[in-house]
Amino acid sequence: MLSSQAPDYVKVKNWSRVTQLLEKAGYKKHWLQIESATHNINERIKKTTELPRMKSTPTQDWGEAVDASFFYGRTRELTQLKKWILQEQVRLVVLLGMGGIGKTTLSVKFAEEVKDNFDYIIWRSLRFSPSSEVFFQQVLEIVSPQTRINTQSLSNSISHIVDCLRSSRCLIVLDHVDSILYSALSYKTENYSGILTSNSTTMGNLNIDLPQIQYLRGYEAFGEFIQGLGESQHQSCLLLTSREKPQEIAALEGDSLPTRSLKLTGLNEVQCAYILKSKGFSTVSEKESDLIMECYGGNPLFIKLEEYCYSGII
Ligand SMILES: Nc1ncnc2c1ncn2[C@@H]1O[C@H](COP(=O)(O)OP(=O)(O)OP(=O)(O)O)[C@@H](O)[C@H]1O
Ligand SMILES: [Mg+2]
Repeated sequence: MLSSQAPDYVKVKNWSRVTQLLEKAGYKKHWLQIESATHNINERIKKTTELPRMKSTPTQDWGEAVDASFFYGRTRELTQLKKWILQEQVRLVVLLGMGGIGKTTLSVKFAEEVKDNFDYIIWRSLRFSPSSEVFFQQVLEIVSPQTRINTQSLSNSISHIVDCLRSSRCLIVLDHVDSILYSALSYKTENYSGILTSNSTTMGNLNIDLPQIQYLRGYEAFGEFIQGLGESQHQSCLLLTSREKPQEIAALEGDSLPTRSLKLTGLNEVQCAYILKSKGFSTVSEKESDLIMECYGGNPLFIKLEEYCYSGII
């Protein structure tokens, strides 16, 4: 990575000398002014240990929610989500983006910040594909603990949950929806020039099959649930995170409709420097931090993993 960024006359033979080589190549060593970052991190550690940790109560079920206390940036995204969900009463939102970009962390941070605006908060991960029956039963027990209904039928449970979401204001976060999705290609052989069908488009003689995002067998009820919450009138919000856009969202979303999607891009160089600092790299130069940020497109997970290469650099 660094060799491709450095001018031609700099040859990287020994990675442990990269910092010196960068200086030789004209990158003046300028240590980041990260004392304030250190201060912020220390303050945050203090705050996390002082405050009670995210605690589940009868009205707040945080499930497998990750710790989002070490969180940098995403101010624009948090503001956007608050505008959509708190002001414009958007009912269905999906956070999209590549693996490691920060969808899960942002969803937790957002839920923590807005929890007082809701009667119920339910945060659930679909990462390990819990069974539909268990999932909907659990949601029902939270939003309607008194109700005894026949939960043999999933549709019955779902319509009862939707009813509850009309009478109470709930935020349900479903993380890692992509775990129950798969991309199915349709293998159409017909070749009609200029025809665009739902899953296949033909341009001249070139027949392109577009992937269709579908639910894994046994998880179709989630599609029903997502569509139901997007289509019906209620006062709650379903926030999804996914690497792929579920087809219900594609059909329902619009700038002035109550279904929206937000695509996450990478963090900026300052936020990346904070992440490196929090990993213990206190002597990261601005240039080095920029190179890492550019190389990984600001992906926080990749930057965290950079420590393996980076520890060889400094
Ligand atoms: N804004 C942020 N500030 C600090 N760290 C972050 C931030 N966003 C994400 N991270 C860190 O980056 C890593 C990946 O984040 P996260 O799990 O949220 O990504 P993701 O988009 O949900 O990935 P996946 O698609 O694999 O589920 C985590 O270790 C997380 O703590
Ligand atoms: Mg995730």
